[in-house]
Formats: sequence, structure tokens, C-alpha cells
Amino acid sequence: MQTFRAGGPLTGTIRVPGDKSISHRALMLSALAIGRSQIAGLLEGEDVLSTAAALHAMGADIRRHDDATWVVHGVGTGGLTQPGKALDMGNSGTSARLLMGLLASHDVIVSMTGDASLSSRPMARVTDPLGKTGAEFTTSPGGTLPLMLRGMTPAVPIEYRLPVASAQVKSAILLAGLNTSGITRVVEPIPTRDHSERMLKGFGADIDVETDTNGVRTISLHGPAELQPQHITVPGDPSSAAFFMVAALIVPESDLIIENVGINATRAGLIGLLQQMGGQIELQNEREIGGEPVADLHVRHSPLKGVAVDPAIAPSMIDEFPVFFIAAAMADGQTVTSGLEELRVKESDRLAMMAKGLQQTGVELQENEDGLVIEGRSGKPFISRLESSIHSALDHRIAMSFAVAGLASENGVTIDDVSPIATSFPNFETLIEQTQG
Ligand code: S3P
Repeated sequence: MQTFRAGGPLTGTIRVPGDKSISHRALMLSALAIGRSQIAGLLEGEDVLSTAAALHAMGADIRRHDDATWVVHGVGTGGLTQPGKALDMGNSGTSARLLMGLLASHDVIVSMTGDASLSSRPMARVTDPLGKTGAEFTTSPGGTLPLMLRGMTPAVPIEYRLPVASAQVKSAILLAGLNTSGITRVVEPIPTRDHSERMLKGFGADIDVETDTNGVRTISLHGPAELQPQHITVPGDPSSAAFFMVAALIVPESDLIIENVGINATRAGLIGLLQQMGGQIELQNEREIGGEPVADLHVRHSPLKGVAVDPAIAPSMIDEFPVFFIAAAMADGQTVTSGLEELRVKESDRLAMMAKGLQQTGVELQENEDGLVIEGRSGKPFISRLESSIHSALDHRIAMSFAVAGLASENGVTIDDVSPIATSFPNFETLIEQTQG
């Protein structure tokens, strides 16, 4: 149980931890390259550590050095070996789904477990297409974890058109293609984060991406791939920066610089949307780090206007909706969102959890099957109903979103369990204290 209260403006200059998506991928591809890779800026959150532990249990040598760089001695494509016990994926959907893909073309039998949140999330979206490569999956009833995977070598290359906009599904299939002879192809009608494609190219995989006139992307990977070890620098996570962006926008007199934030277009939807609402967010010092675009964000307190959100933007800010709803609740006027049914199968049902928590903090809204309609408070601080704490439901982003609401509240916002924050943003509270120093 923890209460977050208004503590004055957020000021100064901060850096958020490394990008979670890129960190998972950096570990996985390094583990499959032959030789020594080095990763700087890796996110040391529980989710990424689950990936590291799983790869280590299957033969990759992964070590953290005192200067916080991580060194990986990879085993070569197809070289991971049978782990001695079940792989525990904790809370991490990315670890579970991407490793299922990676292992589908390995000669291993693996049992995979996760916490209560992960064990309720849908896995058929990866086990169905991966089953076509020859790999076999025995899931729990409902197609969830715990599950048993039997990889296939040689696996069959597949062509798959994504039925849901999911970078995890896309990446799982591409990773299965690394140890598969022939062309593995993913057709992506709606673009999702492209970190896998960028990093596969960086490691020397034979991969090409074509975009047709309708914006449909076809990604072709020629396997088997021989990956070359790399030195990688992971940029700051825009999904973590989002909490500080919104906090600085809604807490009066804030003036904050967040350095070194990834601004890849497939991830940066929130920045443009907040700017459209009147948020003063300036991109400074734009540059490229490790094949990814990065900038420093200068964010100042701003009155925000409600907005009708185009559902097409959803994949480029899919993890930012919880904290976006906090911004919308502080705006002047109504904010309408739709097309967000994917939010119901994240670490929690994020539409339900956000709707409930916002109502507990004095916000009027309507919860629809695919989105929320929020009545903005025109900058009026949140007011908690004192008898109830917010339920974070094993979901780091629910906990952090309401922590941000607490910073702009009249009487504080209490969250029942903030421990999930460690999955993606271990120093979140320290950084809040630092910006309010
Ligand atoms: C991720 C993809 C997204 C995102 C998740 C990380 C990734 O999930 O929500 O936090 O690293 O590929 P989906 O693929 O389910 O959209």
C-alpha cells in the first residue's frame, strides 16, 4: 500500500531506464550470435531479467559487469539447449511469446510458467502460427500458460498474415525463422513496433521489409541466419518516459527535460497526441543510437484540451493508454477513445482497471467494450474517495498511472500494491523524488 501526493512541480533533467522491448531483443539475438556481444543501457527490470535467466538456463553465457554493461557469449542459431527446469516468465508477456518463437525451431522440450497475470493472457495468437512450423504446444485450458513446448528441427518456414496488430506475434514468428531453412514471411496490415526487424538487420540477418501503397508491410527473413555479435546501446524507454511526460504536463509549474528517449515512429504516438491536446513537448537534440532514433524531451506544464483519438494511432502508443487516460482526465472537455480491445488482454484488463481507478479518483467516464469516454476536469486536481485504494492488479502501468494522478491530486492517491512497478521501471519512485527535489 502506498500513497502518492502532490509534492510541487517536476523540474530538472532525468533519464529513464532502457527500452524494455529493445532490451529483450538485444539479449535474445546476442544469445544466438556466435561470440561476444555487449549491451549498454539494458533495462534491469524483472521482465528483462526473466529473459536473461531463461537464456542463461539454456546455455548462453550472460553476465552483468560492474559498469552496468551486459556481456553475452552467444551459442549460435539453433544452439540453445534443454533447460534443467521450467522457464519462469514471471509477469512478462514479451519473454514468453518471443521465447516461444525462438524455441519453436530448437531441439528442446520446455515447460513455461508465469505469474497469475501472465497465466491469464492469450497465447493462442503465437501457438497457432508457430504450430504450423512443426513445433508442438500443450497449453493449459483456454490456451494459456503454464504450457509445454516441443520444438522442431528442421522446422518448416511459414508465411503468416497477422490477425491482430501485435509486435510480439510478428517477432515470435521471425525468431522461429532464424533456425529454419527457407523464407519465413510475416504480413503486417497495421504496422507495429519494428525493433525486431531493425535489430535483426543489425546482427546481419538476411531480412527485407516491403511496404505496399496501402501501408501493408511484408517482412521476409531468409533462414537459417548466421548472426554476428554486436555492441548495442539501448535508448531510454518511451513507455517509461510517458509517465514523466504526463506528470510534467499536468502538475502546475513543471518544467522537465527527459534525456535520451526513443522516438521510433512505431512507438511515439503519445508525443504527437499530447501535443495535439496543447501539451508543450519539445524534441531536442534528435539523433540516432544503435539504429534507433532518440531525442531529449522538454516538457512544460500545459492546459490540455480533450480529443477524439483516431484508433489508427493505437499500435504506436499501445502501452501508453493508461497514463494517457490520466492526461485526458485533466484536460478541458471530453476525450473519446475506441478500437482499444487489445488493452483488455495486457498485464491486466487496462480499460476496466483504469475506468474503476479513475472513478475512485473523482473522474466521470463511460466504459465501452473498446475504449473509454472521459470527461476532463479542466485541470481540477483528482480527489480520492478516501475509503478505497486503487487496485494495481499485477500491472506496472496501472500502478504508475495512478502514482502520476497522485502527484496532481488534492488528497493523495493510494495504490494497494506498487511492487509490479519493478517489472519495467525499478527506479520510478526515486526519479519522482529527484524531479520534485
Ligand atoms: C511488445 C509489444 C506489445 C506491447 C508490449 C511489448 C514487444 O505487445 O504491449 O508491452 O516488445 O513486442 P503486443 O504485441 O501484444 O501488442
